[in-house]
Amino acid sequence: MIEQTRDPRRSQRSDRLTRVYVHLDRLAHNMRLLEECAGGRPLWPCIKANAYGHGAVLVARHLLGLGYETFGVADVGEAAALVEAGIDATCIVLSPALPEHAEALVAYGCEPVVCTRQMVHALAGAADRLGRSVAVHVKVDTGMGRIGIRPDEAGEFLDACAAHTGVRVRGIMSHFARADEADKDFSHTQLEVFRDVVKNTQAHRIEHRHMANSAAIFDLPGSHFDAARPGIAIYGIAPSAHIANPRVRELKPVLEWKSQVTFLNEMPAGTGVSYGHAYRTARPSLIAALPVGYGDGLSLRLSNNLDVLIGGMRCPQVGRITMDMTLVDVSALRGRVNPGDEAVLIGRQGDSQVSADELAARLGTISYEIVTGINPRVPRVAL
Ligand SMILES: Cc1ncc(COP(=O)(O)O)c(C=O)c1O
Repeated sequence: MIEQTRDPRRSQRSDRLTRVYVHLDRLAHNMRLLEECAGGRPLWPCIKANAYGHGAVLVARHLLGLGYETFGVADVGEAAALVEAGIDATCIVLSPALPEHAEALVAYGCEPVVCTRQMVHALAGAADRLGRSVAVHVKVDTGMGRIGIRPDEAGEFLDACAAHTGVRVRGIMSHFARADEADKDFSHTQLEVFRDVVKNTQAHRIEHRHMANSAAIFDLPGSHFDAARPGIAIYGIAPSAHIANPRVRELKPVLEWKSQVTFLNEMPAGTGVSYGHAYRTARPSLIAALPVGYGDGLSLRLSNNLDVLIGGMRCPQVGRITMDMTLVDVSALRGRVNPGDEAVLIGRQGDSQVSADELAARLGTISYEIVTGINPRVPRVAL
């Protein structure tokens, strides 16, 4: 009999002790909730930036299984990675590309957002060379102040697109600048501008008008048009604290970020902890090391300003967060904490919870940056 030997180099699915867990059932729940709030309009979930840090391929695969077939990505590289992973979906490429990307965009079957005639021309040329056609979405800047054609240019721009047989305008779209604020005055102004564009371009018979992001799905029902492009909310995170629609509270956070205790150190009072001794023990302290640091996306700026859940308790992080390790004061858990114990950076443990919003507030940023900032070296594990 041939003896099966276990190769210790392959004995673990991943030897990284710090992981992101992705609750796919919660993703499905959030999609259903958003669909209800959008009055049953088609949803085109945004899975750009590695699905807001959740893992683009695993999120896309699950969404496809749920019947969603059109996704928002940032660029052709993100679309190509999905195609190469076997994801058979339509990718709307939301950020403007350059003419040199036209062939790749067409070859990967992307639907680029366009706002220059040069790009439309380049896409038409690429489509011609490859013997294919390309669907595009024309972006109108109704007040976001980022990208897009001017509202008064829309008719002429659509005429220019129509002059290319290989180019089909599948959508006309815009994006809100301030839909996540309590005061919706500016959003209503944008909506009015977009409605005018839609009215003035009716003759072009464009399939889809789309404008709504997560905040608008909840709070601006007049913006739902023919499809909506939710991002942050599909991941169970509220776009801001100012969403009026009470259903925002039904969102369930999809991501948990967890590590494990790898080392425990009894330190006498007065001991300097980590680089620069930015923390000094005030009393004899039990300090735990976790294998997570700014190399994983845990910001150095959270040093001495973070709680980690261990043993069901909020334990203070102490000393400077380093590239690969972070220290936590677990003195309150003496005798009840061991190497291997779970440490939660974002997520739940017992009755305690740390949210992406909490980390964002501590850092003076937004939850979007926290979750997208979790680095690729952290494995994403589907639950
Ligand atoms: C053009 C566009 N549409 C939709 C979204 C999704 O926005 P949110 O994550 O706020 O729902 C984004 C995100 O940045 C975007 O750039």
